[in-house]
Amino acid sequence: MANEITFKRHRRLRSSSAMRSLVRENHLRIDDFIYPMFVIEGENIKNEIPSMPGVFQLSLDLLLDEVREAYDLGIKAIMFFGVITAKDEIGTGAFIDDGIIQSATRLVKEAFPDMLIVADTCLCEYTSHGHCGVIHDHDVANDESLELLAKTAVSQVKAGADIIAPSNMMDGFVAYIRAALDEAGFTNIPIMSYAVKYSSAFYGPFRDAADSAPQFGDRKTYQMDPANRLEALREAESDIEEGADFIMVKPALSYLDIVRDVRNNCNVPVVAYNVSGEYSMVKAAAQNGWIDEQSIVMEMLTSMKRAGADIILTYFAKDVAKWLKEEQ
Ligand code: PBG
Repeated sequence: MANEITFKRHRRLRSSSAMRSLVRENHLRIDDFIYPMFVIEGENIKNEIPSMPGVFQLSLDLLLDEVREAYDLGIKAIMFFGVITAKDEIGTGAFIDDGIIQSATRLVKEAFPDMLIVADTCLCEYTSHGHCGVIHDHDVANDESLELLAKTAVSQVKAGADIIAPSNMMDGFVAYIRAALDEAGFTNIPIMSYAVKYSSAFYGPFRDAADSAPQFGDRKTYQMDPANRLEALREAESDIEEGADFIMVKPALSYLDIVRDVRNNCNVPVVAYNVSGEYSMVKAAAQNGWIDEQSIVMEMLTSMKRAGADIILTYFAKDVAKWLKEEQ
């Protein structure tokens, strides 16, 4: 009887920890992480974001301690978001030489020259209306906003940024920023395009952290519709044509199919942004004792790798660095 029944024994390759490691297909490495941080004007400020436990708005005088901690844990790339009070219609704070991001970048670059600084290039944290560009007739004016974004990118690189990451979703931002960087002599600075950025409720906690919620309407005329898949490939394709060196997909967790589509269709590094809402959900459930935070985080981030992400931007970066060290 037993001779007639045939089946495969997949459990052979799961029989011990060593066997499982031997055949493991995807791994998390700290080199692949980017750690985002919020920098706020003022002195001696360390505000924990209520919806993002463990994430802080830090003033410049406290920033280096946080960067040092990340650096000592082996994190090699960080990203800054600015939090300011003096906002205006065009987001001047984004592109002035002594803007908050420019100051943070200069400070950190001097103390940690080999730390990669990724600059988020957007206006929403600096505009009084909270949109990612200038407003005309109650909508963001695409082409006028491009000039300001290009100016912002150049000022960020002048301050020492190593990678420009435009997150504003205006059409043509890669072409404009590439041209402006080249003209300023920064031909070697890569662009990490948030090419595939959905209009997502998962950004809610971030907008508290960065004080960047739109004051009217929403971002649906520029960010993508969560229902769309082919559109992601059109966005990625045009950005690569315009000169993007990396393509980002954002959010990550509910969009792993898109990460895989982009991986299969593009030959540049793919970045997945594990956004604020994804972070908050895990934190809230963990604080209730409903899930095991470490196991959930490692599983989520590994699934991003499995989906095809080469790089992961995550507020969990420091935790992951610690956990990976402990595993060794
Ligand atoms: C700026 C920007 C946003 C995020 C990163 N850059 C917010 C938005 O588009 O509203 C969200 C990141 C997160 O939720 O962690 N445009």
